[in-house]
Amino acid sequence: MNWTGRLAIAAALLAVFCNTASAGPEAVQGLLKKAAADPATRAALIREGDSAAFFCKNCHGEKGIARFPEVPNLAAQNPAYIVSQIDAFLTGKRRNEFMQGLMKVLGDREKAAIAMFYGNAVPAASVATRGPAAAGGAEHYKRLCVSCHQNDAHGSESFARLAGQQVDYLRLSLKRYLTRTGERTNSEMSAAVTQLGEQNIESVVQYLASLK
Ligand code: HEC
Ligand code: HEC
Repeated sequence: MNWTGRLAIAAALLAVFCNTASAGPEAVQGLLKKAAADPATRAALIREGDSAAFFCKNCHGEKGIARFPEVPNLAAQNPAYIVSQIDAFLTGKRRNEFMQGLMKVLGDREKAAIAMFYGNAVPAASVATRGPAAAGGAEHYKRLCVSCHQNDAHGSESFARLAGQQVDYLRLSLKRYLTRTGERTNSEMSAAVTQLGEQNIESVVQYLASLK
């Protein structure tokens, strides 16, 4: 059995012990809003998230820098975006067998806490120098991507942070949107990558990985 298989069994066991009280995505986003307005709630959630994420850390890393290239970094990712993706796994809008199963073990407060913990973590140090592959990437990014992902690629509540993301994960994600493989469905993203063109994906990926 490979490592994902072993983790899937561990996740099934976890489900037996975890508190899965859930009132839905609005309740989780509500907790995030409360944390934004109240430093004590924010500090408490970050602390709770550090423990609640114990299992996530197997792949997403102790402080949100992924341990495997195909796993996304969550460090400094926007908490509202993290929660929206947890919800997308749960509703099946986003497909990944392992993640879809695992998300079922999380209660509302744990979702908010884990999102706050990772969102508050230090972003990845820039991994690549702006090598030849990144030339052109900046131009393409400015032309086609800043309107949603922002100038600095730090994203916002609705749009993912891309700066310093894992190279393999970025490449895989963009190819999936381009060829509409169905793991994720977003027509605006598919349109943007179609305009970018397959031949330019690599330059944008290298550019994004080089940002902090
Ligand atoms: C066995 C490894 C593994 C574990 C453990 C794991 N993840 Fe993941 N996670 C992944 C992979 C792989 C992806 C990318 C899936 C894809 O390609 O769509 C992912 C994607 C995500 C995303 C989407 C990020 C983005 O940038 O869109 C979130 C959020 C997430 N995981 C949260 C969690 C949480 C919370 C936990 C713990 C409860 C967890 N993960 C545990 C492997 C893991
Ligand atoms: C109209 C707004 C919009 C534009 C323009 C746009 N994106 Fe996105 N992007 C999104 C949204 C919304 C998502 C999340 C979609 C989902 O849930 O699958 C996303 C997701 C992504 C992801 C996955 C991030 C993650 O953590 O999983 C990557 C990578 C990405 N975009 C790169 C790009 C690049 C590169 C461009 C320019 C070529 C671009 N985007 C242009 C809205 C946009």
